[in-house]
Order: sequence, then C-alpha cells, then structure tokens
Amino acid sequence: FAEEPTTGERKQVENVAHRGATAYAPENTIAAFDLAVEMKADYIEIDVQRSKDGKLVLIHDTTVDRTTDGTGKVGDLTFEQLRSLDAGSWKGEQFAGESIPTFEEILDRYQGKIGIFIEMKSPELYPGIEEEVAEALKERNLDKPQNEKILVQSFNFESMKKMDELLPKVPIGVITSNPADATLESLQEISTYADWFNPHYGMVTEELLSQVHSMGMKMGSWTVRSQETADFLFEMGVDAIISDYPDYVDPRN
Ligand code: G3P
Ligand code: CA
Repeated sequence: FAEEPTTGERKQVENVAHRGATAYAPENTIAAFDLAVEMKADYIEIDVQRSKDGKLVLIHDTTVDRTTDGTGKVGDLTFEQLRSLDAGSWKGEQFAGESIPTFEEILDRYQGKIGIFIEMKSPELYPGIEEEVAEALKERNLDKPQNEKILVQSFNFESMKKMDELLPKVPIGVITSNPADATLESLQEISTYADWFNPHYGMVTEELLSQVHSMGMKMGSWTVRSQETADFLFEMGVDAIISDYPDYVDPRN
C-alpha cells in the first residue's frame, strides 16, 4: 500500500470511470470505455455477468431491458442473442450498434492501457463464475499484476472471499451501502480478505476512512454524479472516486 501522505503533500486520487464514461456514452460499452481512456481516467469499472451458454459479458442490470433494445434476463439469453442487441441507441442515436462486450475482449483491449475495476455483479446467480473470472485473468497473467492496475470487487462478500483464495495476489474489494458493514468488528473481518472497502459516498466520514486505513485497506467511493460529491470525496481524502464523469479532476492535483 502507498504510504499516507505527510502534511503538505497531496495524495493522488484514483479516477475510476463508472461503467466507462457513463455520463457521455452508453454504460459498459466500448464507446464508454474508450472515452474514459481519452479522458485519462486511471481505471474503467465494469460489471461482469454470464450468458445462458457460459460467456462472460459486461452489463449492469440482471435484465437487458434498460440498456438494450431487448428484454429478458441476462442469464436466460445465449451469447448470440445478447450480442445481437443494440446496447447504444438508448443513450443516443450516435451510439446505435454498440454491442454488449465480453469480459475477455475488454481485458484484451484495455490491459496495459488503463486500470480495470472488475465488479462481479450478482455472482450468486452464476455458480462457478469466480473460477471463470479467475481463469480469464490467469490466461493474461493478470493474476500476478505487475504494473497493471486491477481489482476485483462485489457487493457479495462471500464471492470476494472466494476470489481472494483463487487470486491471492489480486486486490479484492467489497462494495456496500449498508452502514452495518462499517462497524469495527465487520471491518476487521472484511480486512482478512479484502484490500479495498468501497462504500456509497453517503457512508463516508473521516472516522470511517481512518479506520479503513488503519486496517490496511483503501477506500473507493461511488457513485459520483456531481462536482459537489466529487469535491466532498476529494476533501475526505478517499483513495479512489468512482464516477460517471471521469473529466472531474481533483483540485488538489
Ligand atoms: O463500483 C461501485 C459501483 O459500481 C456499485 O454500484 O450499482 O453501479 O454497480 P453499481
Ligand atoms: Ca458496478
């Protein structure tokens, strides 16, 4: 872990593009990820789920209804069905034809170009997805990251315990909006397998941040959709902000 800055020094805050540059382009598509790279974000954040026939795909909701021209549950549709959907037009006609990416193609396209915050979305719906994500990372030597910035996170803490066992060298994060996860006891338990504690910004206080740091974890907070929220988190001194607007910059840098 990076050392805490001493007085007078300014800490770099990691700029994580939430589902890509989501304010400007359709979330979890190459258009949104490319824009995040262009905007010089430090990481893209992606949501991984699985098709009916076992392909790892990127989409946030557990149904395709909101972000494509199709309907139905992600896990009930084959990859061919998912891939034929238009995942761009809902955000604007200029994005017509954007498709649902696979996890592997996004690793191949962005590995070494930008960091990747990998969220396992609802892994309880996809038994065995932990091993599949771990395997895709191993095939690309991302299980032993050197200079690559990578992290695996989830709202599902049991799944993250498993990922920590499968990928002991990869930083693991837990995501929560539940204050019950932020008690000292809970934080201590989480710190046995996680490297990041990633709360909703409404939970962030200086005290919580200092407890998280004292347990050797970092904090990334979400989801920033206004400059005011970004400024609050910069002021608090979190380690990463997960934002729809990767063009917000840390005034301290
Ligand atoms: O990275 C944290 C954030 O993505 C969690 O919320 O619902 O946007 O996946 P959600
Ligand atoms: Ca997410």
